[in-house]
Amino acid sequence: MQITTEKPIPTYPSEQLERHADVGSATPISFRGYTAESLLRAYHTAGPVFETEINGVAEIILAGMDANEQAWRSPDDWSYHHAVAVFREELSKVHLTQLDGAPHRRKRRLLNKGFKNSSVMSGMEATAREIAEGLEAMVGTEVELHEALMKVFTRAQAASSVKVDLDDEAIERMVDFEEGFIGALFMTPEERELVYNRAAYVGKKEVVLNQLHSIVKARLEGATGDDLFDGVIHQKTSEAVEPLSEEELIYDAYLMLIAGTGNTSKLLCYLVDTLARNPSWTAELRAEIGEFDPTRMARGMQEFPLLKATLMETERLFPAAPVLPRVPARDIEFLGYPLATGTHCLHQVALMHYDETIYEDPFTFQPRRWLEHDYPKAAHGTFGGGSHVCLGMNVTRVQMPLAIASLLSGYDFEVTQAPRMENYAYPGEVDSQTLRINVKLSKRS
Ligand code: HEM
Repeated sequence: MQITTEKPIPTYPSEQLERHADVGSATPISFRGYTAESLLRAYHTAGPVFETEINGVAEIILAGMDANEQAWRSPDDWSYHHAVAVFREELSKVHLTQLDGAPHRRKRRLLNKGFKNSSVMSGMEATAREIAEGLEAMVGTEVELHEALMKVFTRAQAASSVKVDLDDEAIERMVDFEEGFIGALFMTPEERELVYNRAAYVGKKEVVLNQLHSIVKARLEGATGDDLFDGVIHQKTSEAVEPLSEEELIYDAYLMLIAGTGNTSKLLCYLVDTLARNPSWTAELRAEIGEFDPTRMARGMQEFPLLKATLMETERLFPAAPVLPRVPARDIEFLGYPLATGTHCLHQVALMHYDETIYEDPFTFQPRRWLEHDYPKAAHGTFGGGSHVCLGMNVTRVQMPLAIASLLSGYDFEVTQAPRMENYAYPGEVDSQTLRINVKLSKRS
């Protein structure tokens, strides 16, 4: 599209944005190092498109419901190839996230077999079993819940999605690789290079990718897993659609086994901490869940309205990825403003979660609001939207209720160390940050 507007993009002084670490923000979620409160003020002052400096780099900020709607409606306006090049550089040029246009559509269509709701639900029983066993193993000792849940979810995927026997060491290595990779995604290119070149990370990444490759090779040579991965590999397609190659399947196995476990765990950790501080709501939830039987979730969340509302509120209050990098693929007009090809943009996809014109008293945990109101889709950005909407959303929305229902039904819990961002433990090397929270579980009598 030719740019027909000359409407100047307003500038917002970066000194007026508050650093998240320096002020007492009402939410633990940092918007690339800044507070949601200060970005909201900027949005209400300057409008949905403005220029500022974020972490020393000039950026165009896109914010608000109109921005969400327009960005999600027009995926081909944006170059994921440029915006999230790190997925290509660190994983592969065939990796889903950084594809655009027809190659992206082809891959989403082929992966749908492994991620659509009916597929994910078919693995629910196995997922529930792994979650139950994982929680039981935590009883009695103080555990760091974020990493512990990542391991549980990786095991659950290995029991449902890509069925494979993994020992504790293999699971730990996958979690370490994922945390190392994701933790450095949005660092400066220089810092990222240091992280991705550290010996411990490089070694783990190599072993994980080799392991995924052996799974793929075995499947291509005829081994069957009777799982979702088989469904993805052997699906019937029209001749116009090229089947997934051996190289692609390695990164698709990564998606089905490892990806996203950190984000799911992060939301749950913040929820566990929040429930510990809201005993009366926790008691109501426990009454609804009763003695938990996962088969009651086989057809969805109808029997668990309070739990469903709790999880919607968790998605709203603790969006794990609230800011997404965007780069126009060509000169475009965005909400009346001209954006030239290649301009660095930051889409504040979850900023409206904290806007009091939409969510009353937005910084407080009020799950009941979801029972009393319908909120606009564009005000909920936790999983992004449009054709690049989170591929794992259905996985997360099965794992989260199963984990919380099993936890509340079977265990009492105490938060022994509050949630905090800490360096990932690679002693002596450049490090990325991850969430930590310590809890102690005991059996409910
Ligand atoms: C609470 C958990 C999760 C959150 C908050 C989350 C959030 C997001 C967000 C915000 C996006 C960006 C969408 C966009 O660019 O517009 C995304 C994309 C993606 N997510 Fe998730 N995610 C979660 C769990 C998962 C899981 C479990 C997986 C497992 C496969 C996953 C895989 C992906 C992939 C592959 C993409 C890229 C999709 C594409 O470009 O087509 N995510 N996610």
